[in-house]
Amino acid sequence: MAGEPKITLSVITADIGGFIGHVSSHPDVLDTAKERLFAAREKKIIIDFHVLRCGDDLELIITHGNGPNDRKIHELAWNIFTACKEVADELKLYATGRGLDMEGFMGDIRCKGPGIAEMEFLERSSEPVIVLMANKAGVGAWNMPLYKVFADPSNTPGLFMEPTMLEGFSFTIYDLQENREVQISTPTELYHLLALIGSTCRYIVISVSRNSDREVAAVTAVHKYNLMAGRVMSKSESSVIFRCQAGFPAIGEVMEAFSFPHLVSGWMRGSHIGPLMPVPFYEANPTRFEGPPRLIGAGFQISNGKLIGPHDMFDDPSFDEARKTANKATEYMRRHGAFQPHRMAQSELEYSSLPMVMDKLKDRFRKK
Ligand code: F6R
Ligand code: MG
Repeated sequence: MAGEPKITLSVITADIGGFIGHVSSHPDVLDTAKERLFAAREKKIIIDFHVLRCGDDLELIITHGNGPNDRKIHELAWNIFTACKEVADELKLYATGRGLDMEGFMGDIRCKGPGIAEMEFLERSSEPVIVLMANKAGVGAWNMPLYKVFADPSNTPGLFMEPTMLEGFSFTIYDLQENREVQISTPTELYHLLALIGSTCRYIVISVSRNSDREVAAVTAVHKYNLMAGRVMSKSESSVIFRCQAGFPAIGEVMEAFSFPHLVSGWMRGSHIGPLMPVPFYEANPTRFEGPPRLIGAGFQISNGKLIGPHDMFDDPSFDEARKTANKATEYMRRHGAFQPHRMAQSELEYSSLPMVMDKLKDRFRKK
Protein backbone atom coordinates (compact mmCIF):
# COMPACT_ATOMS: atom_id res chain seq x y z
CA MET A 1 0.00 0.00 0.00
CA ALA A 2 1.20 3.54 -0.76
CA GLY A 3 3.09 5.19 2.08
CA GLU A 4 3.97 1.92 3.81
CA PRO A 5 7.68 1.53 4.52
CA LYS A 6 9.59 -0.97 2.43
CA ILE A 7 11.50 -3.83 4.01
CA THR A 8 15.09 -4.67 3.05
CA LEU A 9 16.27 -8.26 3.33
CA SER A 10 20.08 -8.46 3.41
CA VAL A 11 21.96 -11.76 3.33
CA ILE A 12 25.66 -11.22 4.00
CA THR A 13 28.14 -14.11 4.00
CA ALA A 14 31.84 -14.49 4.74
CA ASP A 15 34.43 -17.18 5.35
CA ILE A 16 35.64 -16.22 8.83
CA GLY A 17 37.72 -19.29 9.56
CA GLY A 18 37.18 -23.01 9.31
CA PHE A 19 36.49 -25.43 12.14
CA ILE A 20 38.64 -28.38 11.16
CA GLY A 21 40.27 -27.05 8.03
CA HIS A 22 37.68 -25.61 5.65
CA VAL A 23 34.88 -28.02 6.65
CA SER A 24 32.60 -26.37 9.19
CA SER A 25 32.11 -23.39 11.53
CA HIS A 26 32.74 -23.18 15.29
CA PRO A 27 29.72 -22.51 17.55
CA ASP A 28 31.60 -19.68 19.38
CA VAL A 29 31.91 -17.79 16.07
CA LEU A 30 28.18 -18.18 15.39
CA ASP A 31 27.36 -17.09 18.97
CA THR A 32 29.47 -13.94 18.55
CA ALA A 33 27.50 -13.00 15.44
CA LYS A 34 24.19 -13.72 17.22
CA GLU A 35 25.13 -11.60 20.27
CA ARG A 36 26.12 -8.63 18.09
CA LEU A 37 22.97 -8.82 15.98
CA PHE A 38 20.84 -9.21 19.12
CA ALA A 39 22.33 -5.95 20.43
CA ALA A 40 21.69 -4.22 17.07
CA ARG A 41 18.07 -5.37 17.16
CA GLU A 42 17.70 -4.08 20.74
CA LYS A 43 19.03 -0.68 19.57
CA LYS A 44 16.55 -0.80 16.64
CA ILE A 45 19.34 -0.54 14.06
CA ILE A 46 17.85 -3.63 12.44
CA ILE A 47 14.37 -5.16 12.60
CA ASP A 48 15.32 -8.82 12.89
CA PHE A 49 18.07 -11.33 12.13
CA HIS A 50 19.00 -14.95 11.87
CA VAL A 51 22.49 -16.49 11.80
CA LEU A 52 23.22 -19.62 9.76
CA ARG A 53 26.26 -21.25 8.28
CA CYS A 54 26.99 -23.58 5.39
CA GLY A 55 30.34 -25.37 5.66
CA ASP A 56 32.87 -22.78 6.83
CA ASP A 57 30.84 -19.78 5.58
CA LEU A 58 28.91 -17.64 8.05
CA GLU A 59 25.59 -16.17 6.92
CA LEU A 60 23.90 -13.12 8.46
CA ILE A 61 20.26 -12.80 7.44
CA ILE A 62 19.04 -9.32 8.40
CA THR A 63 15.87 -7.30 7.89
CA HIS A 64 15.91 -3.52 8.17
CA GLY A 65 14.40 -0.41 6.64
CA ASN A 66 17.50 1.24 5.19
CA GLY A 67 17.43 -0.07 1.60
CA PRO A 68 20.17 -2.00 -0.24
CA ASN A 69 23.82 -0.88 -0.08
CA ASP A 70 23.29 0.96 3.19
CA ARG A 71 26.54 2.03 4.79
CA LYS A 72 25.29 1.52 8.36
CA ILE A 73 24.15 -2.06 7.71
CA HIS A 74 27.29 -2.95 5.79
CA GLU A 75 29.46 -1.51 8.55
CA LEU A 76 27.50 -3.48 11.15
CA ALA A 77 28.12 -6.70 9.19
CA TRP A 78 31.78 -5.81 8.74
CA ASN A 79 32.23 -5.20 12.48
CA ILE A 80 30.50 -8.50 13.24
CA PHE A 81 32.80 -10.35 10.86
CA THR A 82 35.89 -8.78 12.39
CA ALA A 83 34.65 -9.63 15.93
CA CYS A 84 34.03 -13.21 14.73
CA LYS A 85 37.54 -13.29 13.27
CA GLU A 86 39.00 -12.36 16.67
CA VAL A 87 37.19 -15.34 18.24
CA ALA A 88 38.38 -17.56 15.37
CA ASP A 89 41.94 -16.30 15.90
CA GLU A 90 41.81 -17.16 19.62
CA LEU A 91 40.71 -20.70 18.78
CA LYS A 92 43.32 -20.85 16.02
CA LEU A 93 40.65 -21.87 13.56
CA TYR A 94 41.83 -22.43 10.01
CA ALA A 95 42.47 -19.63 7.49
CA THR A 96 40.79 -17.01 9.69
CA GLY A 97 39.61 -13.95 7.84
CA ARG A 98 40.77 -15.22 4.47
CA GLY A 99 37.36 -14.18 3.16
CA LEU A 100 37.87 -10.63 4.44
CA ASP A 101 40.00 -7.91 2.96
CA MET A 102 41.57 -6.77 6.22
CA GLU A 103 42.58 -3.31 5.02
CA GLY A 104 39.36 -2.22 6.70
CA PHE A 105 35.90 -0.96 5.97
CA MET A 106 35.59 1.88 3.46
CA GLY A 107 31.83 2.33 3.23
CA ASP A 108 30.81 -0.59 1.05
CA ILE A 109 31.20 -4.21 2.10
CA ARG A 110 30.80 -5.51 -1.46
CA CYS A 111 34.42 -4.86 -2.35
CA LYS A 112 35.81 -6.31 0.88
CA GLY A 113 35.33 -10.05 0.39
CA PRO A 114 31.90 -10.94 1.80
CA GLY A 115 29.05 -11.90 -0.50
CA ILE A 116 25.89 -9.82 -0.27
CA ALA A 117 22.41 -10.46 -1.64
CA GLU A 118 19.91 -7.70 -0.87
CA MET A 119 16.39 -6.90 -1.96
CA GLU A 120 13.87 -4.24 -1.00
CA PHE A 121 10.12 -4.69 -1.27
CA LEU A 122 6.77 -3.71 0.12
CA GLU A 123 5.80 -6.64 2.34
CA ARG A 124 2.75 -8.46 0.93
CA SER A 125 -0.13 -9.66 3.13
CA SER A 126 1.95 -12.85 3.37
CA GLU A 127 5.60 -12.83 2.31
CA PRO A 128 7.22 -16.29 2.03
CA VAL A 129 10.93 -16.21 1.08
CA ILE A 130 13.65 -18.81 0.67
CA VAL A 131 17.32 -18.03 1.32
CA LEU A 132 19.66 -20.55 -0.24
CA MET A 133 23.32 -20.73 0.60
CA ALA A 134 26.10 -22.79 -0.96
CA ASN A 135 29.59 -23.74 0.20
CA LYS A 136 32.49 -24.85 -2.04
CA ALA A 137 30.48 -23.76 -5.07
CA GLY A 138 32.07 -21.16 -7.30
CA VAL A 139 30.83 -18.67 -9.80
CA GLY A 140 27.70 -19.33 -11.88
CA ALA A 141 26.17 -21.99 -9.59
CA TRP A 142 22.74 -20.29 -9.57
CA ASN A 143 22.43 -19.78 -13.34
CA MET A 144 20.79 -23.11 -14.14
CA PRO A 145 18.32 -23.19 -11.22
CA LEU A 146 17.33 -19.55 -11.85
CA TYR A 147 16.65 -20.38 -15.48
CA LYS A 148 14.52 -23.37 -14.40
CA VAL A 149 12.55 -21.46 -11.78
CA PHE A 150 11.80 -18.35 -13.87
CA ALA A 151 11.93 -19.47 -17.51
CA ASP A 152 11.28 -23.22 -17.76
CA PRO A 153 7.57 -24.12 -17.64
CA SER A 154 8.36 -27.80 -17.14
CA ASN A 155 9.86 -26.81 -13.78
CA THR A 156 7.45 -23.96 -13.01
CA PRO A 157 3.91 -24.51 -14.31
CA GLY A 158 2.99 -21.20 -12.68
CA LEU A 159 4.66 -19.51 -15.67
CA PHE A 160 1.63 -20.46 -17.79
CA MET A 161 -0.97 -21.11 -15.06
CA GLU A 162 -0.71 -17.93 -12.99
CA PRO A 163 -1.96 -14.75 -14.76
CA THR A 164 0.59 -12.40 -13.10
CA MET A 165 3.46 -14.55 -14.34
CA LEU A 166 2.27 -14.88 -17.96
CA GLU A 167 4.36 -11.90 -19.09
CA GLY A 168 7.45 -13.67 -17.80
CA PHE A 169 10.54 -12.49 -15.94
CA SER A 170 13.62 -10.41 -16.76
CA PHE A 171 17.12 -11.53 -15.85
CA THR A 172 19.96 -9.11 -15.08
CA ILE A 173 23.23 -10.69 -16.14
CA TYR A 174 26.73 -9.65 -15.20
CA ASP A 175 29.60 -10.16 -17.64
CA LEU A 176 32.59 -11.08 -15.49
CA GLN A 177 35.11 -10.44 -18.21
CA GLU A 178 33.95 -7.01 -19.36
CA ASN A 179 32.56 -5.74 -16.01
CA ARG A 180 29.18 -4.80 -17.53
CA GLU A 181 25.58 -5.97 -17.21
CA VAL A 182 22.59 -6.59 -19.48
CA GLN A 183 18.88 -7.24 -18.92
CA ILE A 184 17.14 -9.99 -20.88
CA SER A 185 13.39 -10.55 -20.90
CA THR A 186 11.85 -14.03 -21.06
CA PRO A 187 10.02 -15.79 -22.62
CA THR A 188 10.56 -13.52 -25.68
CA GLU A 189 14.37 -13.58 -25.44
CA LEU A 190 14.72 -17.05 -23.93
CA TYR A 191 17.33 -18.21 -26.44
CA HIS A 192 19.39 -15.06 -25.94
CA LEU A 193 19.29 -15.80 -22.21
CA LEU A 194 20.49 -19.38 -22.67
CA ALA A 195 23.18 -18.29 -25.15
CA LEU A 196 24.68 -16.19 -22.35
CA ILE A 197 24.04 -17.91 -19.02
CA GLY A 198 24.98 -21.40 -20.21
CA SER A 199 28.52 -19.97 -19.95
CA THR A 200 28.60 -20.11 -16.18
CA CYS A 201 32.17 -18.92 -15.88
CA ARG A 202 31.50 -15.66 -17.71
CA TYR A 203 27.83 -14.58 -17.53
CA ILE A 204 26.17 -14.74 -14.12
CA VAL A 205 22.60 -13.95 -13.18
CA ILE A 206 22.53 -11.32 -10.44
CA SER A 207 18.78 -10.64 -10.18
CA VAL A 208 15.38 -11.49 -11.62
CA SER A 209 12.28 -9.28 -11.74
CA ARG A 210 8.65 -9.85 -12.77
CA ASN A 211 7.83 -8.28 -16.14
CA SER A 212 4.24 -7.28 -15.29
CA ASP A 213 5.26 -4.80 -12.56
CA ARG A 214 9.11 -4.93 -12.27
CA GLU A 215 8.82 -6.41 -8.74
CA VAL A 216 12.04 -8.06 -7.58
CA ALA A 217 11.74 -11.86 -7.50
CA ALA A 218 15.28 -13.13 -6.83
CA VAL A 219 18.72 -11.71 -6.07
CA THR A 220 22.08 -13.49 -5.92
CA ALA A 221 25.07 -12.44 -3.83
CA VAL A 222 27.61 -10.23 -5.50
CA HIS A 223 31.09 -11.11 -4.34
CA LYS A 224 34.36 -9.41 -4.72
CA TYR A 225 35.35 -9.87 -8.34
CA ASN A 226 38.95 -8.95 -8.11
CA LEU A 227 40.19 -8.73 -11.65
CA MET A 228 43.94 -9.07 -11.58
CA ALA A 229 45.53 -8.81 -14.99
CA GLY A 230 42.25 -9.85 -16.59
CA ARG A 231 41.84 -12.85 -14.31
CA VAL A 232 39.05 -13.14 -11.73
CA MET A 233 40.72 -14.01 -8.44
CA SER A 234 37.85 -14.27 -5.98
CA LYS A 235 34.69 -15.73 -7.36
CA SER A 236 31.49 -17.14 -6.00
CA GLU A 237 27.96 -16.05 -5.27
CA SER A 238 27.33 -17.83 -2.02
CA SER A 239 23.63 -17.04 -1.57
CA VAL A 240 20.39 -16.36 -3.41
CA ILE A 241 17.05 -15.02 -2.16
CA PHE A 242 13.71 -16.01 -3.72
CA ARG A 243 10.31 -14.39 -3.06
CA CYS A 244 7.62 -17.02 -3.43
CA GLN A 245 3.90 -17.62 -4.04
CA ALA A 246 1.02 -15.37 -5.16
CA GLY A 247 2.48 -14.10 -8.43
CA PHE A 248 5.96 -15.51 -7.85
CA PRO A 249 6.99 -19.15 -8.26
CA ALA A 250 5.57 -21.38 -5.51
CA ILE A 251 7.89 -22.71 -2.80
CA GLY A 252 7.76 -26.14 -4.47
CA GLU A 253 8.64 -24.67 -7.88
CA VAL A 254 11.76 -23.05 -6.42
CA MET A 255 12.71 -26.22 -4.54
CA GLU A 256 12.10 -28.44 -7.60
CA ALA A 257 14.95 -26.70 -9.44
CA PHE A 258 17.36 -28.12 -6.84
CA SER A 259 16.15 -31.73 -7.12
CA PHE A 260 18.82 -32.22 -9.78
CA PRO A 261 22.31 -31.85 -8.28
CA HIS A 262 23.82 -30.03 -11.23
CA LEU A 263 27.58 -29.75 -11.68
CA VAL A 264 29.20 -26.58 -10.38
CA SER A 265 32.75 -25.29 -10.18
CA GLY A 266 34.50 -25.03 -6.80
CA TRP A 267 35.01 -28.03 -4.51
CA MET A 268 38.58 -29.01 -3.56
CA ARG A 269 40.93 -26.01 -3.83
CA GLY A 270 38.21 -24.12 -5.68
CA SER A 271 39.43 -25.92 -8.79
CA HIS A 272 37.14 -28.91 -9.40
CA ILE A 273 33.76 -29.60 -10.95
CA GLY A 274 31.23 -31.51 -8.84
CA PRO A 275 27.52 -31.83 -8.03
CA LEU A 276 25.72 -29.33 -5.78
CA MET A 277 24.24 -31.50 -3.02
CA PRO A 278 21.11 -30.17 -1.24
CA VAL A 279 21.27 -30.99 2.50
CA PRO A 280 19.58 -30.14 5.80
CA PHE A 281 21.42 -27.57 7.94
CA TYR A 282 23.19 -30.21 10.07
CA GLU A 283 24.67 -31.95 7.02
CA ALA A 284 26.39 -28.90 5.57
CA ASN A 285 29.89 -30.13 6.48
CA PRO A 286 31.69 -31.14 3.28
CA THR A 287 34.43 -33.65 4.16
CA ARG A 288 34.86 -35.97 1.16
CA PHE A 289 37.48 -34.26 -1.02
CA GLU A 290 36.03 -31.23 0.83
CA GLY A 291 32.77 -31.73 -0.94
CA PRO A 292 30.73 -32.38 -2.78
CA PRO A 293 29.67 -28.68 -2.77
CA ARG A 294 26.78 -28.16 -0.34
CA LEU A 295 23.50 -26.29 -0.51
CA ILE A 296 21.18 -25.38 2.36
CA GLY A 297 17.80 -23.67 2.19
CA ALA A 298 16.15 -21.55 4.89
CA GLY A 299 12.49 -20.67 4.51
CA PHE A 300 10.96 -17.66 6.29
CA GLN A 301 7.63 -15.90 6.45
CA ILE A 302 8.34 -12.20 6.85
CA SER A 303 5.89 -10.49 9.18
CA ASN A 304 6.32 -6.74 9.64
CA GLY A 305 10.00 -7.28 8.96
CA LYS A 306 10.30 -10.12 11.50
CA LEU A 307 11.87 -13.31 10.19
CA ILE A 308 9.44 -16.06 11.13
CA GLY A 309 11.55 -19.19 10.75
CA PRO A 310 13.76 -20.64 9.53
CA HIS A 311 12.27 -23.81 8.20
CA ASP A 312 15.04 -26.19 7.08
CA MET A 313 13.89 -26.63 3.46
CA PHE A 314 16.03 -29.62 2.45
CA ASP A 315 15.15 -31.60 5.58
CA ASP A 316 12.76 -33.63 3.46
CA PRO A 317 13.10 -37.26 2.29
CA SER A 318 11.95 -36.17 -1.18
CA PHE A 319 15.51 -34.84 -1.60
CA ASP A 320 17.10 -38.21 -0.68
CA GLU A 321 17.32 -39.18 -4.37
CA ALA A 322 19.03 -35.88 -5.22
CA ARG A 323 21.58 -36.62 -2.49
CA LYS A 324 22.08 -40.18 -3.83
CA THR A 325 22.54 -38.84 -7.35
CA ALA A 326 25.03 -36.30 -6.00
CA ASN A 327 26.98 -39.11 -4.29
CA LYS A 328 27.00 -41.15 -7.52
CA ALA A 329 28.15 -38.10 -9.49
CA THR A 330 30.82 -37.48 -6.85
CA GLU A 331 32.18 -41.00 -7.31
CA TYR A 332 32.08 -40.66 -11.10
CA MET A 333 33.80 -37.28 -11.16
CA ARG A 334 36.44 -38.31 -8.59
CA ARG A 335 37.49 -41.26 -10.77
CA HIS A 336 38.86 -38.68 -13.25
CA GLY A 337 41.54 -37.81 -10.70
CA ALA A 338 43.75 -34.98 -11.92
CA PHE A 339 42.09 -34.75 -15.33
CA GLN A 340 39.56 -32.43 -16.88
CA PRO A 341 36.61 -32.08 -16.78
CA HIS A 342 36.79 -32.96 -13.04
CA ARG A 343 39.72 -30.58 -12.71
CA MET A 344 38.67 -27.18 -14.01
CA ALA A 345 40.12 -25.62 -17.14
CA GLN A 346 43.52 -24.01 -16.66
CA SER A 347 42.19 -20.46 -16.92
CA GLU A 348 39.63 -21.14 -14.16
CA LEU A 349 41.88 -22.73 -11.54
CA GLU A 350 41.98 -20.99 -8.18
CA TYR A 351 45.29 -22.64 -7.29
CA SER A 352 47.87 -23.50 -9.89
CA SER A 353 51.49 -24.52 -9.80
CA LEU A 354 51.67 -24.35 -13.59
CA PRO A 355 53.66 -21.08 -13.85
CA MET A 356 56.31 -22.64 -11.58
CA VAL A 357 56.30 -25.94 -13.48
CA MET A 358 56.53 -24.10 -16.81
CA ASP A 359 59.42 -22.05 -15.52
CA LYS A 360 61.31 -25.19 -14.54
CA LEU A 361 60.63 -26.83 -17.89
CA LYS A 362 61.10 -23.78 -20.09
CA ASP A 363 64.45 -24.89 -21.51
CA ARG A 364 63.30 -28.42 -22.16
CA PHE A 365 60.48 -27.62 -24.59
CA ARG A 366 61.52 -28.31 -28.20
CA LYS A 367 59.72 -26.72 -31.16
CA LYS A 368 58.19 -29.34 -33.51
C1 F6R B 1 37.88 -24.77 -1.31
C2 F6R B 1 38.48 -24.88 0.02
C3 F6R B 1 39.41 -25.99 0.31
C4 F6R B 1 40.86 -25.49 0.29
C5 F6R B 1 41.88 -26.64 0.59
C6 F6R B 1 43.30 -26.13 0.66
O1 F6R B 1 37.08 -23.63 -1.39
O2 F6R B 1 38.25 -24.05 0.86
O3 F6R B 1 39.24 -27.08 -0.56
O4 F6R B 1 41.15 -24.92 -0.95
O5 F6R B 1 41.60 -27.23 1.83
O6 F6R B 1 43.32 -25.14 1.62
P1 F6R B 1 44.59 -24.26 2.06
O7 F6R B 1 45.27 -23.83 0.80
O8 F6R B 1 43.94 -23.15 2.82
O9 F6R B 1 45.43 -25.15 2.94
MG1 MG C 1 37.35 -21.65 3.87
